[in-house]
Amino acid sequence: MQYEFMANRLENIHSDIRGPVFFRALEMEAEGQKVLKLNTGNPAAFGFKMPASVKNHILENVEKSLGYCGLRGMQATLQAIMDYEVSKGVPVTSTNDVFVTNGVSEAANMLATALVNEGDEVLMPNPGYSLWSNSVLAAGGVPVFYDCNEEDEWNPDIEDIERKISKRTKAIVVINPNNPTGALYSDKILLQIAEIARKNDIIVFSDEIYDRLVFDGLVHNSFAKLAPDLPIVTLNGLSKSHCLCGLRSGWIVLSGKCKKMEELQKALVVLASVRLCSNALMQLIVPTALKDVEYTKEMISPTGRLFLQREACVNAINEIDGLSVVKNKGAFYIFPKIDTERYNVTNDKEFARGLLEAKKILIVAGTGFGYKTPDHFRVVMLPEHQTLKDAMYEIGDYLQTLKK
Ligand SMILES: Cc1ncc(COP(=O)(O)O)c(C=O)c1O
Repeated sequence: MQYEFMANRLENIHSDIRGPVFFRALEMEAEGQKVLKLNTGNPAAFGFKMPASVKNHILENVEKSLGYCGLRGMQATLQAIMDYEVSKGVPVTSTNDVFVTNGVSEAANMLATALVNEGDEVLMPNPGYSLWSNSVLAAGGVPVFYDCNEEDEWNPDIEDIERKISKRTKAIVVINPNNPTGALYSDKILLQIAEIARKNDIIVFSDEIYDRLVFDGLVHNSFAKLAPDLPIVTLNGLSKSHCLCGLRSGWIVLSGKCKKMEELQKALVVLASVRLCSNALMQLIVPTALKDVEYTKEMISPTGRLFLQREACVNAINEIDGLSVVKNKGAFYIFPKIDTERYNVTNDKEFARGLLEAKKILIVAGTGFGYKTPDHFRVVMLPEHQTLKDAMYEIGDYLQTLKK
C-alpha cells in the first residue's frame, strides 16, 4: 500500500495471513455467510481447550498477576523457562539470559530493534513466516531470503545461505519446525548452518515455537544444543504447544557467551524496561504449562487430534488431481503445490480469492510467505479431521474448474 502520511518503512510491511483475501472473508461473514478460515494457526479458534492444569492455576492465582513484574519476567517463570531449555541441551546458565515476551512476535520485534541498523541484512527462510521479514523491515533492515527446497523436503539450501552472506549480514533466522512447510530439520542441516554462522561470525535466531509439535516419534533438537559455542538466540512460547495464542506467551534465551551476547543482553534489558513487563497472567502459568508435557504429547500421538487431522488432510490432498504435497513432520501446516502445467493457475492470490468466493474456504497463497512461484498455498490443519478432509475435497473440486 502507498501511504502519504505514514512512515516510508511501512511500504513493504504486510501479512497475507491477514491480508486482502482475509478481509474479504470477514466481509462475507458479516453478510451472514459461513467461511472456513484456514489462514491462522490459532488452535483455540477450532475448539482446542486450554490444559486443565493451566486453567486451575489461573483461577487460583489471578490476583498475583495484577502488578507490573520484573523487566525480564517473574523469577519462577524465568527459572521454569531456563530449566526447560536446559533440558533440551541449550547451554544457558543464568536467568539473566532469559526474557519473557508477549509472544515470539514481540520477541522478534525486540531482537530486530536491538540489532538492526539501517541497511543491515538478516537472512531468513523462503518460504517463511512473515513475522521475521516484517520485524526486520520495521527496524529499517533488509530481509534477505535463503531458499528452502521442496525437492529436498523443504530443507534450507545450504549453498544459497552461503551465497547470500554479505558484510551487512547481522543474523540468520532458522524456523524449525517450519511455518509454512512443516519441515523438521536434521542435525546435519543445522550443523551446516552452524558452520556458516561460525565461519562468518554471525548470530543465529532459532525460532522453535513448534518444537514440541513433531510427529511420528521424531525428535526436535535445539540449534543451541548442537552449537553450544555459538551466540544463539532461542525463541519459544506456549501459543502452539499449549494452544494459548491469546495469552501471548513467548521467551528469548541467550546462549554462547561472547561480547556480542553481552551487548545483546544489555540491549534487551533496555527494551524490556521500556515496555515495563510482559503480560503477568501468562507468566504465572508458564511453570505449570511446561510441566504439563502430557497435554502436548496427547495431541501428536497416533490417536491424538493433531495427528489424525494431519493424516486426513495429507491423504486427501494426495488423492486430488493437480495437487502434491510434502508431508509435514512438525507444526500444523502444509504447503501443497498446484500443477500449473495442467491447471490454469497463474496467480496464487487470485486462486485463493476464487476459492473463497466459490467454496467459502480461506487459505493463504504461497507468495504470501515470500515463495518465488505463484503455485503453492498453505493449509492450517486445525479443524476436526472430517471437516478438514471435506475442505480438501472442496479445494480439489474448485481446482478442477481450472483444468486446461
Ligand atoms: C514460526 C512462528 N514464529 C512465531 C509465531 C508467533 O507466535 P506468538 O504467538 O508466540 O507470537 C508464529 C505464529 O504462527 C510462527 O508460526
